[in-house]
Amino acid sequence: MCGIIGYIGKRNAVSVILEGLKRLEYRGYDSAGIAFFSDKGIEIRRCTGKIRELASMLESENPSSSTAIGHTRWATHGRPSEENAHPHRSNSIVLVHNGIIENYLDLKERMIEKGYEFKSETDTEVLCHLIEEYTKRYPFEQAVREALKEVKGSYALVIVKEDEPAKIVGARKDSPLVVGLGEGEFFLASDVPAFLNYSRNVIFLDDGEMAVLTYKGLMITEPDNTPARKDVKSVPWSLSMAEKGGYRHFMLKEIYEQPRAIGDTLRGRLYPERGAVNFDEFGFGIDELKKVKKIFIVACGTSYHAALTGKYMIEELARTPTEVDIASEFRYRRPLVKSGDLMIAITQSGETADTLAAQREAKRLGARILSICNVVGSTSSREADAVFYTHSGPEIGVASTKAFTAQIVALYLFAIGLGKTKGVISENISRELLKELLMLPGKVEKALAIDEDIRRIAEGFFKARGFLYLGRGINYPIALEGALKLKEISYIHAEGYPAGEMKHGPIALIDEELPVIVLAPMDNLHKKIISNIQEVKSRGGRVISITNDSDSEIFRTSDKCILVPNTNSYLTPVLMAIAVQLLAYYVGVLRGCDVDQPRNLAKSVTVE
Ligand code: G6P
Repeated sequence: MCGIIGYIGKRNAVSVILEGLKRLEYRGYDSAGIAFFSDKGIEIRRCTGKIRELASMLESENPSSSTAIGHTRWATHGRPSEENAHPHRSNSIVLVHNGIIENYLDLKERMIEKGYEFKSETDTEVLCHLIEEYTKRYPFEQAVREALKEVKGSYALVIVKEDEPAKIVGARKDSPLVVGLGEGEFFLASDVPAFLNYSRNVIFLDDGEMAVLTYKGLMITEPDNTPARKDVKSVPWSLSMAEKGGYRHFMLKEIYEQPRAIGDTLRGRLYPERGAVNFDEFGFGIDELKKVKKIFIVACGTSYHAALTGKYMIEELARTPTEVDIASEFRYRRPLVKSGDLMIAITQSGETADTLAAQREAKRLGARILSICNVVGSTSSREADAVFYTHSGPEIGVASTKAFTAQIVALYLFAIGLGKTKGVISENISRELLKELLMLPGKVEKALAIDEDIRRIAEGFFKARGFLYLGRGINYPIALEGALKLKEISYIHAEGYPAGEMKHGPIALIDEELPVIVLAPMDNLHKKIISNIQEVKSRGGRVISITNDSDSEIFRTSDKCILVPNTNSYLTPVLMAIAVQLLAYYVGVLRGCDVDQPRNLAKSVTVE
């Protein structure tokens, strides 16, 4: 989704912005732009396509400025085009915007009546005119504040004014905006990686707050214009974590980082000898947890698939009824949440609009909120009663990989901790479960050795027009995730199905053209899934199985079989996930797709 950056300070702001925009590319975009100050006032350059095209537009003039703002646009109102790209301008006011202005048509009519001329199809342009109108009566910051009182919708805004080149104003509502603090320099961005090479000290703005950046300092104010008290947070990520480090794509790097990401996520969170989970960080007292009668989990995309595995774990290990919802459905379905219920919101970015709305709705209904989140200081983490951070490090590839497996690990820890607290599982059992977890990073490392086999399988199948993924039990969500990954990065249609349900529909699709990926770990459903494979084979289908049992009959019945290490049934989804991630990756690469920034997708979907 759109990326925003603003800079004021001692460096050449144009270079800082271009570099920052490159680092925001991963969020997904279709056009980009920059505004900087020159002898002629504010100059704007915009283009459709990639940042490198924007950079090449500026190459010959090589401009220098100490204040600049930039934007990557993911089209919502109006197609991707130069006119619709940000920054937008109204006389002296130039700004970039993330979010959606809901009442823009009303405001637009008013601005047209006042004589403003609109040059784009965007909702954003109305903001420039509105602020410009208020500058006739008020100084810059106050004009922004007054204008925003009239605006309905979501925004993160970075604004400059032609006659005040030493100032940037930022404002947020329902769309993330973070200030980066350097020595004699400040950054404003939608996302920390935009300025990670210059600063790791950040202040996250809250809804309604405004930031004014000058060379001399920073002022953050509340909606009523009183100074806001803000903490400076240090982001634990380094720049190298947000770079490719020799891998061809971020996605491949992130797949390979999973042993480390899982290791970091479980570090300090368990006492293996006592079979106990360290619940301090969850922020709830043991007594409160004991009383939880019902759990709701909400999430979107890949995080939703992690949520589905969580249901299996929590219901089996803690015998607590657990409902899982797609966040955009939950927020509109009048859920029966009661005071004392627990909601777990799972979100890598912590900024997904639908997940935040679902989390807020559950809070309103009296539930306590636990956020399982990867980004320190994100909105979900700040609004929740408790946060369990997955320590995956920055995830840059749009298609989520390492954040996903870390989320499963977080849910596993939670389910064991809750089960033990509620007396559902004994100390012996929880000790065994945690022992297995400690071995997981090593097993994931071993699983990555299937890379070459998967690449060869991808070579044999990448021209297929569709794929079917089958799984059962806790690996049914991995069938969904495998299909989603493939769709996202190779643009091949794929469907994930519970294997036992295949006979009620998808079986009609089976012929020699359709590769069927079967997740077949050794568990209580192993025999059943072998029957499902036979159903596919007897109709001429081509089966690629993934198992953790080297003696399984599956090796004889499948066309191709991939072996991953053995583990307990709750953790098999993590190892199965490695296989489906690699398969999607290689199919995407063989089809020449942009696997890190797939078309139309955004990393963090901050609008509804
Ligand atoms: C987008 C991304 C997905 C991600 C989903 C949820 O659709 O492309 O990779 O799974 O958002 O994001 P979240 O940050 O809430 O986990």
